Amino acid sequence: MTPLLSVEGLHVGVAASRETAATTILRDVSFMINAGETVGLLGASGSGKTSLALALLGLLPPALNVRGQVLFDGLDVVSASEGARRALRGRRLSMVFQEPLTALNPRLRVGAQVAEVACAHGERDAGRATRTAVDMLGRAGLPEPDERARRFPHELSGGERQRVLLAMALLLDPALLIADEPTSALDVEVQAQVLTLLRTQQRERGMALLLVSHDLGVIATTCARTMVLHDARVVEDAPTRQLLATPEHPQSRALVAAVRPGAQSA
Ligand SMILES: Nc1ncnc2c1ncn2[C@@H]1O[C@H](COP(=O)(O)OP(=O)(O)O)[C@@H](O)[C@H]1O
Ligand SMILES: [Mg+2]
Repeated sequence: MTPLLSVEGLHVGVAASRETAATTILRDVSFMINAGETVGLLGASGSGKTSLALALLGLLPPALNVRGQVLFDGLDVVSASEGARRALRGRRLSMVFQEPLTALNPRLRVGAQVAEVACAHGERDAGRATRTAVDMLGRAGLPEPDERARRFPHELSGGERQRVLLAMALLLDPALLIADEPTSALDVEVQAQVLTLLRTQQRERGMALLLVSHDLGVIATTCARTMVLHDARVVEDAPTRQLLATPEHPQSRALVAAVRPGAQSA
């Protein structure tokens, strides 16, 4: 089976400037994701998770040095034109960003923002785009979607805003959804609801999911496989159950110990 996504020797670096030395954000990262697979990207803050997610979408700032190959649907995201990348994003590949408030336009009602996604991808009928948006908001678990759709982002709770972002990301039925810390800003109860929603949508659609988190607890409920990012590298890539039972890399052991206090004392 050809993998959906194949990353080979990905390297992301920051060039030296007058004030700072050159640094490496990602070093020789290689992995694959198959259609329908659920994969967690686990790492401490600053380990490069968001940079890796952005690299997969071709969204890293142009000032960074990017080498290697990111093949999605046969297209190399690293060397493709911006036009080709844009065609991929939001259709076959979409992302829920880390900050729900900054990812939304504060001056536009959320229903209109979701409808805009539908229009950007070919829906010409404004009324139909609005109905699609409200329907998707409902499926993303937003209560009273008709009424909520008319609100501005700041008139929603954090959990509701996260559902709006999820609705936008799911609207185009992507083959791979990347969710970057989608629940980190939410309290535990809402976090569990959003994770359940992600799992249900993933299963119903058979889409692949890359769930980015610093919290192995979050990943373990959702992903069959986990990659551990540390010091700019993927230091472990294993079935989640195996990682929990027998973590190999010291960083993996530390992350497992964080969710299972006592498990590492033997
Ligand atoms: N555009 C950039 N220019 C310079 N350094 C960056 C840039 N983006 C990220 N970094 C650095 O790369 C490292 C990884 O950041 P990030 O990918 O946001 O990690 P994470 O999401 O795991 O917290 C950090 O040290 C961060 O400061
Ligand atoms: Mg991040």
